[in-house]
Amino acid sequence: MSLLVVEDLHTHFVSRDLDNRVRTAKALNSVSFALAEGEVLGLVGETGAGKSLTAFSIMGLLRPPARIVQGSVRFAGQELVGLAPEQLNAVRGARIAMVGQNPRGALDPLTRVGEQIVRVILAHQAVSREAARAAALEAMARVGIPDPARRFRSWPHELSGGMAQRVLIAMALVNRPTLLIADEPTTGLDVTVQAQILDLLRTLVREMNMAALVITHDLGVVAHYCSRMAVMFAGRIIEMGPVEAVFGTPRHPYTQALIAATPENLTLDGASPLGGRPPDLFALPPGCHYVDRCPIATEACNALPPWRSVAADHGALCHRVES
Ligand SMILES: Nc1ncnc2c1ncn2[C@@H]1O[C@H](COP(=O)(O)OP(=O)(O)OP(=O)(O)O)[C@@H](O)[C@H]1O
Ligand code: SF4
Ligand SMILES: [Mg+2]
Repeated sequence: MSLLVVEDLHTHFVSRDLDNRVRTAKALNSVSFALAEGEVLGLVGETGAGKSLTAFSIMGLLRPPARIVQGSVRFAGQELVGLAPEQLNAVRGARIAMVGQNPRGALDPLTRVGEQIVRVILAHQAVSREAARAAALEAMARVGIPDPARRFRSWPHELSGGMAQRVLIAMALVNRPTLLIADEPTTGLDVTVQAQILDLLRTLVREMNMAALVITHDLGVVAHYCSRMAVMFAGRIIEMGPVEAVFGTPRHPYTQALIAATPENLTLDGASPLGGRPPDLFALPPGCHYVDRCPIATEACNALPPWRSVAADHGALCHRVES
C-alpha cells in the first residue's frame, strides 16, 4: 500500500502588483506521485523547479502568499490538505519528519541542543521528562554525536555544521516517523561531512524502514541512495521511474539533457547546467513548459503533453515519447 499519495497538487503564489492587479505564480502544476512504505524516492530538477515547495506543500508548511489551490496529499490514508493546524501538528514531526539545509538556522539559538530534542519528544509522546532525556541521549548517540552527555548541554553556536545536522536528524527521527523528507540535507557542509551525513541517513532509513523523499541537486546522490526518481521542471514532474531506467534510458528531452550534461560527477550545481532560463511562473506556456528550450519541439507541443508510460513504473510528460 502507498504510504504517501500526492495527487494533482497545484500550489500557487497569489499576490497583487503595483496596480493592484492579481498576479499568480503557478509554482506547482499538477504534481502527482506515490511513495510506498520503506521506499526511497529522489526528487531532482534545476533551481526553482518546485522541489522544496513540494516538500512544504506535503508538510503543510506553506506561508502566504503560497497556497495549495487544488489537489490532495494523503498520508497513511489520511487527507492532509485542509487539515486543522493542531491535527497537522500531530502528523508533522511525529509520523512525517523533515531535515533541511542550513541546520544551524533550524535550531533555536537560545536553547541547549539536548533540551530541543527533549521538547520534540514531549510534544508527541506521553513520557516523563527523564524518559525523554534518556531517549534524546540515545538518539544523539545513534546519529553519531560523540559524548552525547556533554553535547546535550551545548548551545547551537558551539556545533559545527555537520554536528548541527546530526542534531536535526536526531530530532527528526526521535518520534520514529514513517516518512522522512530530506531537502538538500548536505548543502553547505564540507564534502567529507556530506558523505558521512548521507551514509547516516541511508543507514537510519534502512534500519527504521522509513520511506524517504530525498530532494537533491546531486544526481550522484540519487544514483547511490534512491530506488526511484522523479524529475521536476517548472512545477511539474516530467519524468519518473526506477533510477536505473531513468539514467539508462531517459525519455524526456530535459532529463536527457540533464544526464548528458553531467557525465563525470553527475552534479547539477544549483543552477541550470543546460543553458536557457526557467520559464516565467507568472506566464507559463499553455502546453509543454519545456517548449522554449526543447530541441525537438513541434507544433503539437503548444498543447499540454500527456503522461506517456514506457513501462509499468516509468513514464514521461512529453508528446514525443512513444508509449
Ligand atoms: N513569493 C513568491 N512569489 C512568486 N514565486 C515564488 C515566491 N516564492 C518562491 N517562488 C517561486 O517558487 C518556485 C519554486 O521554488 P522552490 O524553492 O520549490 O524551488 P527548488 O526546486 O526547491 O529550487 P532550489 O533547487 O533552488 O532549492 C521558484 O521558481 C520560486 O521563484
Ligand atoms: S512535449 Fe514537445 S516541447 Fe515538451 S519535451 Fe516533449 S517534444 Fe519537447
Ligand atoms: Mg529547494
